[in-house]
Amino acid sequence: MNMKKIVVLVSGGGTNLQALLDAQARGEIIGGEITAVVSSTPGAFALERAAKAGVEGHVINRKAYESREAFTDALLQTLEELHADLIVLAGFLYILSPAFVDRYENRIINIHPALIPSFCGDGYYGLKVHEKVLEYGVKLTGATVHFVSAEADAGPIILQKAVPVEEGDTPEILQRRVMEQAEWKLLPEAVSLFCQDRLSVEGRIVHIAEK
Ligand code: GAR
Repeated sequence: MNMKKIVVLVSGGGTNLQALLDAQARGEIIGGEITAVVSSTPGAFALERAAKAGVEGHVINRKAYESREAFTDALLQTLEELHADLIVLAGFLYILSPAFVDRYENRIINIHPALIPSFCGDGYYGLKVHEKVLEYGVKLTGATVHFVSAEADAGPIILQKAVPVEEGDTPEILQRRVMEQAEWKLLPEAVSLFCQDRLSVEGRIVHIAEK
């Protein structure tokens, strides 16, 4: 089996990128290798994490482009040059254009810090998601890894894990619990399953093949 080239797109701190890099160092990303990290933000801490792990970093600065199309065209070109087999959105702030999503159908994976279809879609990003969860008063939240489709957070679901909301939670405390108990485990697991060709998509349903 050829090693798949994994390119991780980031916008910020990059703890999910770190989880992927750590999993790779432990030999847990089977059949794939993180070959590059692309940041939409110059100076993102995620770029330092990549450099420390010896992974090349690129910046496609969203603010330098007038439109989403121009930005995603530039991204697309970089990904083509990197020969990406799998694109992972790990705290990536921007919604990709339909042309981009078409080009990489069922080859883009996103992590979202809630149990989709709850608390997701336009405007639900990062800490905001956990603020809304606490406002609503649900007792369970969690994380979802899914394939990216043209509509935000609406693509086929690969893995989900529930995490309890506890008395006295702040958005920050809840975010940390969701990351530790769900996100940092689910994302490397989903990436490894993809790289082993164990995921198949039928409509909205993702089937996971046994080893
Ligand atoms: C993570 O919690 C990720 O799930 C979330 O942003 C955070 C990024 O943290 N993504 C979204 O909300 C996408 N809609 P990180 O940069 O430390 O990985």
